[in-house]
Amino acid sequence: MKLLVTGGAGFIGSVVARMLLDAGHEVVVLDDLRTGHREALAPDAIHVEVGLHDAARVLTPQAGFDGVLHFAALIAAGESMVAPERYWHNNTVGSLALIDAVRAAGVPRLVFSSTAAVYGNPTELPIPETAQKAPTNTYGATKLAVDMALTSEAIGHGLAAVSLRYFNVAGAYLDGDTALGERHAPETHLIPIALEVAAGRREKLQLFGDDYPTVDGTCVRDYIHVADLARAHLLALGAATAGQHRVYNLGNGNGFTNRQVVEVVREVTGHPVPVEVTPRREGDPAELVASAALARTELGWEPSKPTLHDMVTDAWAFYRTHLDRP
Ligand SMILES: NC(=O)c1ccc[n+]([C@@H]2O[C@H](COP(=O)([O-])OP(=O)(O)OC[C@H]3O[C@@H](n4cnc5c(N)ncnc54)[C@H](O)[C@@H]3O)[C@@H](O)[C@H]2O)c1
Repeated sequence: MKLLVTGGAGFIGSVVARMLLDAGHEVVVLDDLRTGHREALAPDAIHVEVGLHDAARVLTPQAGFDGVLHFAALIAAGESMVAPERYWHNNTVGSLALIDAVRAAGVPRLVFSSTAAVYGNPTELPIPETAQKAPTNTYGATKLAVDMALTSEAIGHGLAAVSLRYFNVAGAYLDGDTALGERHAPETHLIPIALEVAAGRREKLQLFGDDYPTVDGTCVRDYIHVADLARAHLLALGAATAGQHRVYNLGNGNGFTNRQVVEVVREVTGHPVPVEVTPRREGDPAELVASAALARTELGWEPSKPTLHDMVTDAWAFYRTHLDRP
């Protein structure tokens, strides 16, 4: 297939682009590099340095795209609470512009990066796709709006749409000379921050709250290896059906507390990770654990690296190769 990958210079989009190319697809990456890395671009993909709002320049009817995988977004939940307009404009308005271009060009299928943040404080655990959607931050709300637009687009215009709701994505993709991992600036994700502390690049790790109703008082999150997540996109492309909007959670169904994650980082790196407990962050649910039963039964998805140890080992291997880069 000829596929457009938006956000293909970012963490997850770069891994999926790599896997699509390896599976024999033709890939065009649309990424304006606002947070992505040029060196993460697959050398055998075409890169267009264009923003989402101008997607119609690339997605022309003549270009003959068979599908779009849409990763491009701003992703920091905390920042989305202090600069909400940036998130609405980029994540929602940008996605609507992309959907308009998809419709105008007659592209039949689209796979979208949704998020566990659409659920907010869960009313049931593990969280099924049917759970109440009540985001507690603007980031989650901007993603839920796109999910809803995709449902409408499937009904109204026959798009084959799939939303994949990721829980916490971790690990790195390492294959021969290819090393693709997580490098957000500023970094807001627990594992890469803990690795920075282990490497001596950051003084200490802040744990936001240790008075949650969990085994050790810190928040519980579900981690999924980026390579397992990426494989689910290839399965979703194959399962996308005209006129349907399918939604799948992607996580391992196992929760780990923040303190347990820090302990695994200490084990894997062999370095100390000093921790400072600070007050809870507004909008952080105590526990987010996925039920990915639907992805397993309908897509035939099976994670191959479900352990936190594997994810931290791969993330650490990637981190060490990029220590001296910005
Ligand atoms: N990382 C996670 O744990 C996680 C969890 C749930 C959902 N997600 C979703 O997965 C997707 C990818 O996340 P990531 O961690 O790879 O993020 P990332 O920041 O590494 O990558 C995002 C990419 O999108 C590009 N981009 C952003 N806005 C753009 C625009 N308007 N036009 C063109 N390019 C634009 C950036 O330059 C960057 O390369 C996002 O949609 C995110 O919401 C991520």
